[in-house]
Amino acid sequence: MLRLTVLVSGGGTNLQAILDAMEAGQIPGATVAAVISNNAGAYALERARKHGIAAECVAPKDFESRKDFHRALLARLQFYQTDLVVLAGYLVAVPPEIVAAYPNRILNIHPSLIPAFCGTGYYGLRVHEEALKRGVKVTGATVHFVDTGTDTGPIFLQKAVEVRPEDTPKSLQKRVMEEAEWKLLPAAIALLAAGRVQVRNGKVLLDDGIEQ
Ligand code: GRF
Repeated sequence: MLRLTVLVSGGGTNLQAILDAMEAGQIPGATVAAVISNNAGAYALERARKHGIAAECVAPKDFESRKDFHRALLARLQFYQTDLVVLAGYLVAVPPEIVAAYPNRILNIHPSLIPAFCGTGYYGLRVHEEALKRGVKVTGATVHFVDTGTDTGPIFLQKAVEVRPEDTPKSLQKRVMEEAEWKLLPAAIALLAAGRVQVRNGKVLLDDGIEQ
């Protein structure tokens, strides 16, 4: 059983999509061991508790230094015997020590088609504002593995979403979530749990499940 710890900062609709897919039997072989937020008020923690999942806050402000915070977070991931870390709207940078402890075992969801509109400063509504400003006709979402850069790790799954002439950053954000993010993240976890994913030379290879 692949044990997931999901890191969150906000509402947790991506977490909800994972939990719903699990309850619908779409992710056999994986379970959410814990949900950890950097923000005690995150609604995502409520969602976890409603499903009987361990939910806790590990906040940078509760530690004397960033190093202590990173050490504490890693200790909690280890405590839950985490096999896969899922960043589902987690707004804190993951430090190199944690990346090193989970090589190609940390997933992130980003609300654009990487390499467009990603990197430092591109999070939340800002991503969609920039996409609209640039006038792209298609945007989408990307699930990627996390390396030590910002949104630079191996690309795992992507899904395109059409931009409509009447879109506002908010309407686009909503459609990207509904049409792409909430589908991609559970799908990526299901592929990993099924052992159908390899990372070679920085590229993700998917086994199509057909016996050779
Ligand atoms: C999503 O748009 C995700 O791509 C981004 O933050 C948002 C999180 O939303 N990084 P939620 O907390 O899962 O509802």
